[in-house]
Amino acid sequence: MKAELIADRRFQVGEIDRHIYGSFIEHLGRAVYGGIYQPDSPLSDEQGFRKDVLELVRELQVPIVRYPGGNFVSGYKWEDTVGPKEKRPARLELAWGVIEDNSFGLNEFTDWAKKAGTEVMMAVNLGTRGPLEAKEVVEYCNHKGGTALSDLRREHGYEEPHHIPVWCLGNEMDGPWQMGAKTAYEYGRIANEAAKMMRLVDNSIELVACGSSNLNMPTFGSWEAEVLEQCYDNINYISLHQYYGNRSNDTPDFLAKSQAFDEFITSVISICDYVRAKKKRKKKIYLSMDEWNVWYHSNEQDRKIEKWSKAPHQLEDVYNMEDALLIGSMMITMLKHCDRVKMACLAQLINVIAPIMTSDTGAWRQTIFYPYMHGSVYGRGTVLQTMLEVPTYDSKSFRDVPYVDLVVIDNAKEEELVLFAVNKNLEEEITVSCELRQFADYHILEHQMMTHADLKAVNTEADPDNVKPVPVETDSFTDSMLEVKLPAKSWNMIRLKK
Ligand code: AHR
Repeated sequence: MKAELIADRRFQVGEIDRHIYGSFIEHLGRAVYGGIYQPDSPLSDEQGFRKDVLELVRELQVPIVRYPGGNFVSGYKWEDTVGPKEKRPARLELAWGVIEDNSFGLNEFTDWAKKAGTEVMMAVNLGTRGPLEAKEVVEYCNHKGGTALSDLRREHGYEEPHHIPVWCLGNEMDGPWQMGAKTAYEYGRIANEAAKMMRLVDNSIELVACGSSNLNMPTFGSWEAEVLEQCYDNINYISLHQYYGNRSNDTPDFLAKSQAFDEFITSVISICDYVRAKKKRKKKIYLSMDEWNVWYHSNEQDRKIEKWSKAPHQLEDVYNMEDALLIGSMMITMLKHCDRVKMACLAQLINVIAPIMTSDTGAWRQTIFYPYMHGSVYGRGTVLQTMLEVPTYDSKSFRDVPYVDLVVIDNAKEEELVLFAVNKNLEEEITVSCELRQFADYHILEHQMMTHADLKAVNTEADPDNVKPVPVETDSFTDSMLEVKLPAKSWNMIRLKK
């Protein structure tokens, strides 16, 4: 099968914001306890942070991590999580039906983030709490000192403010499962007032308002419009969340879901611009895809979890090869909208629907680790507009699905051109002839390719390298023409250098 592509350095979509490669850690399952934090483990450092996990997180070069939830945040009392550990209360954690002993809290997370080389994106509780508590946690974290709350932080051993740059105004407030769920008007009003007060404390922060919990929510569309109507002037981003699954074991249909993902993004951009036009504002609202992933493998297992346990094995999806293909396609889709999708968080980071898994004896990379790592480490710079002519297929729920998803990134700083591509054809290799205008003086540096004979193949602690990228040398580049061969059902990263 053959495809053709034209890219020209002068025609650009936009600059990639590094925050598009963010991730997420919620107090849920073994994300924190037994994931990033395990004080009694020989694998941990003096603060109880798992060193093997820190190493893998650094390998991903995660730029920002959302914390502490998720559904968890709607019952969150940040005051429970700071100060001497022996005084911290254990609580019923209602979102996930477990016990939270608060032995790891807000300040420990900022320490961990420093060691991981990442920034913090903090969420405030607008479900069961309100603007006052939201303002107070900003003061505790970001104000330098001389007030009760900022001095409390200093008493707790943190002389310098945390300077947390991005804050989420609650989580999935449209969802009936959410503690303190609200109508769009109720939420929009509270988000606006919280945003105003949080900014009065620290005007440098960026704020994310909750969009719909997913594209299929009955209030999708009207939710975004009403929320933006209420808080447009005081926020920077609206959130999108999207998880997919292959429940009917129909791989072509599963891989086509990046098309629905694209429609979700374009719809939310349209709604933001509708409100912008209506309000006659110059300011644009950006998109924060702050939960995205495949999530379905663990659903059945999770129904059996004993209530009020501590850090159970929860949402522990074991990802296979086809999941990695969809993750690659979803990432490419967001990159093609990088002029509006400025922030995104692969949900989540460790153990809970995550690229990194742990046991008491080690940590390993799941299949989805690789496309995410390639993006985060090499996908920096400017996305170029591309003309791509490629054969398409029809699946159960989608029409005209291109067999290839592809994005071209001009990393001018490193003098590199990077292509990410997924071949969704399960049988055939596809040769893409790429006319790369203005790049004649470049040469091929590497082509990393990941596939597996078995689309259900996974990585485990016993066999951690079963699915991983390998270098291939089947491409050619002469006079601006790149001929790239994408094997059937494969994830690919091709790097060219000046
Ligand atoms: O990431 C798991 C859960 O998915 C989050 O807690 C919630 O926001 C979403 O429904």
